[in-house]
Amino acid sequence: MRKITKICCIGAGYVGGPTMSVIAKQCPDIQVTVVDINEVRIAQWNDSNLDNLPIYEPGLAEIVGATRGKNLFFSTEVDKAIDEAQMIFISVNTPTKTYGKGKGQAADLKFIELCARNIARVAKDNKIVVEKSTLPVRTASAIKSILENTGNGVDFEILSNPEFLAEGTAIEDLLNADRVLIGGDETPSGKEAKNILSAIYEKWIPKDRILQTNVWSSELSKLVANAFLAQRVSSINSISALCEKTDANIAEVSRAIGYDSRIGSKFLNSSVGFGGSCFQKDILNLVYIARSYGLQEVADYWEQVIIMNDYQKKRFANTIVSSLYNTVSGKKIIFYGWAFKKDTNDTRESAAIYVADALLDERAEITVYDPKVTEEQIYADLDYLNTRSPEDNRRLLKVTNDPTLATQDAHAIAILTEWDEFKTYDWSLIYENMLKPAFIFDGRRLLNKGELTQIGFKYYKIGES
Ligand code: UDX
Ligand code: ADP
Repeated sequence: MRKITKICCIGAGYVGGPTMSVIAKQCPDIQVTVVDINEVRIAQWNDSNLDNLPIYEPGLAEIVGATRGKNLFFSTEVDKAIDEAQMIFISVNTPTKTYGKGKGQAADLKFIELCARNIARVAKDNKIVVEKSTLPVRTASAIKSILENTGNGVDFEILSNPEFLAEGTAIEDLLNADRVLIGGDETPSGKEAKNILSAIYEKWIPKDRILQTNVWSSELSKLVANAFLAQRVSSINSISALCEKTDANIAEVSRAIGYDSRIGSKFLNSSVGFGGSCFQKDILNLVYIARSYGLQEVADYWEQVIIMNDYQKKRFANTIVSSLYNTVSGKKIIFYGWAFKKDTNDTRESAAIYVADALLDERAEITVYDPKVTEEQIYADLDYLNTRSPEDNRRLLKVTNDPTLATQDAHAIAILTEWDEFKTYDWSLIYENMLKPAFIFDGRRLLNKGELTQIGFKYYKIGES
């Protein structure tokens, strides 16, 4: 079996960066080079101050500190890294298309195609190409076709090795993966390639957790895993609306059903809605694929998961407006949290963006505090929606780094991300600062209702009447 001594990873983002750092840590005999066309991003990965890495993940900086310059390298020299490596991971972004056929649903594969063409142009010896980005089913065959038709006559084996890491726990998930999935051709060379990749993971993952499948099963499993997880969140969120109308409590319902070992207790936390780069995109892909094969009912079934998620975000914004006497115009509302969940600075598809947009439409004046998200990112997220001018976004929404001071003369606080630090705040002082009645809208079920109502707050918790 061929031995891998050099790996190249194209794309130094949320997937490529942490995954390659962990491979470098666990395989000191392999040289791992992560390349990206984004010079700023690579400079951040190479910053001598590890606090300046482009993404925040608990444990990541320590691993980068220990491996960078030894067997982990970050570079913009894409061609050189491709040329030298025996194995190339593709970890570029695959956003939902914003134009043309499949707009708003299908994944935009232009970055993947550019990578494939680049590999074909540069490669002078046989390579194993591993698709790591979340991709629609049958992408591997598209990559294969490009490589075979435009390459220099060398052999390529294409593997699908989907990423199951969750942000905020990426390092832990990579080190102790529930499973590693490797899809590839059933031919002798395909099987060999799968074994070669498996051998890398076997350095730290028990062999019985490394699953080999055909390439389509691997690609589809990634979409389906995320669709099932998102479906659980939408299911519990749908029940949270019902709980608010009755005297049932969503936490008690979650607990009661979670004790059934067939259902299981994880991923049943009701929230303001799921976000992140994967769930919505993957379901939209699933819906698009089903529809393109004429499976209308299958497509409609999965689309409902997204519809329920959108409903939950709107419902939260509507609750704020109706509780504040049906008008938020000119009222100061503090957002605690902007990231799509705690322990990450990622804001992609974060519920906070859509709740803010809905409230800004009602002319609320919002002040945002998030411990990890930058001001620049918050405005970029709002501007991207194109709902109002960048000037209006900056006039109506402010960003602060002092969560307590910001509450001066505020009408309400909305909790959009479950950051642990929010639990430790001096809520009595915050109450003193605010206009009365002082409202808290807890979209993450984070705080203690008894304590806050005792202080005097009008406290709304999603999923409770
Ligand atoms: C997800 C998958 O978990 C991961 O396996 C895949 O590789 C990528 O997509 P990620 O998007 O990083 O990971 O975060 P995850 O922890 O799954 O949370 C997604 C969203 O669902 C977050 O907005 C989170 O707040 C929300 N969520 C999750 C809930 O609202 N309730 C829950 O019970 C769980
Ligand atoms: P993900 O969450 O999938 O990792 P990111 O957007 O965080 O997505 O990262 C993807 C990275 O891939 C970006 O830094 C982007 O600059 C990089 N990228 C996209 N296309 C190419 C390409 N053709 N060559 C090199 N890097 C690329």
